[in-house]
Amino acid sequence: MSLKKDTRPKTISDHEGTIILKLLKLLGNEIIEWVEALFRFMPGRLGDGARRLWLKKRFRMSGKMSCSTGCEFFGAENISFKGLVGIGANGFFSARGGSIQIGDNSFFNRDVHINADIGGRIIIGENCLIGPKVIMRTATHRFEKKEVNIKDQGHQSADIVIEDDCWISANAVILCGVHVGRGAIVGAGAVVTKDIPSMAIAVGVPAKVRKYRGDQSIL
Ligand SMILES: CC(C)(COP(=O)(O)OP(=O)(O)OC[C@H]1O[C@@H](n2cnc3c(N)ncnc32)[C@H](O)[C@@H]1OP(=O)(O)O)[C@@H](O)C(=O)NCCC(=O)NCCS
Repeated sequence: MSLKKDTRPKTISDHEGTIILKLLKLLGNEIIEWVEALFRFMPGRLGDGARRLWLKKRFRMSGKMSCSTGCEFFGAENISFKGLVGIGANGFFSARGGSIQIGDNSFFNRDVHINADIGGRIIIGENCLIGPKVIMRTATHRFEKKEVNIKDQGHQSADIVIEDDCWISANAVILCGVHVGRGAIVGAGAVVTKDIPSMAIAVGVPAKVRKYRGDQSIL
């Protein structure tokens, strides 16, 4: 029996090749995440500039955009910003499954949660102000079946539309399917379950129209 050493160069099998490719892809994604995290948290003017460039690469953007530190964007291909848009610190925008469309000159205070995952659209018009910690989500859990855990019953989704010139104040929650008319104001802490007419000022839980802009009489 010959004990000669096999000196032929080793070839990589298909299986090993697949594993290497998978690892390289994983590494590539990790590197992208690290670079994005760097952009996300970079302070100062340099950070503002870097984020502007990064966002321009990632989004369908037709104007200038400013974005503070700590913001997260998921499903970027389904998010569009038209014109000048400003986003405060820690904004969360997610459109994996649905879409988000923001109009010119609209501004988001810090810690907003704008979520069109699973389905449905969030359309925010021009010249809108979205206060700190506002939540908008197009999907809601289904819970009709008592014998099935809520988490296993899936979701249903519906569009949220905020027309031009609206002010959605701090901590308001806009539920799926709600349409807020042009020029309307939603008060701090309101939970909006139904449509709000144009120029109305709606407050409370659930949000009810108390008056109309330019009209002092309280309903
Ligand atoms: C909605 C808002 C703009 C209304 O202001 P306004 O027209 O001056 O309202 P008024 O103070 O005349 O209040 C009218 C009635 O609504 C009630 N009200 C006002 N804001 C309310 C709110 N957020 N939630 C529940 N009730 C509210 C008032 O108590 C008053 O009720 P009453 O007649 O029974 O006493 C204001 O109250 C508000 O919520 N501002 C948001 C502030 C904020 O979030 N700032 C963060 C920066 S975006």
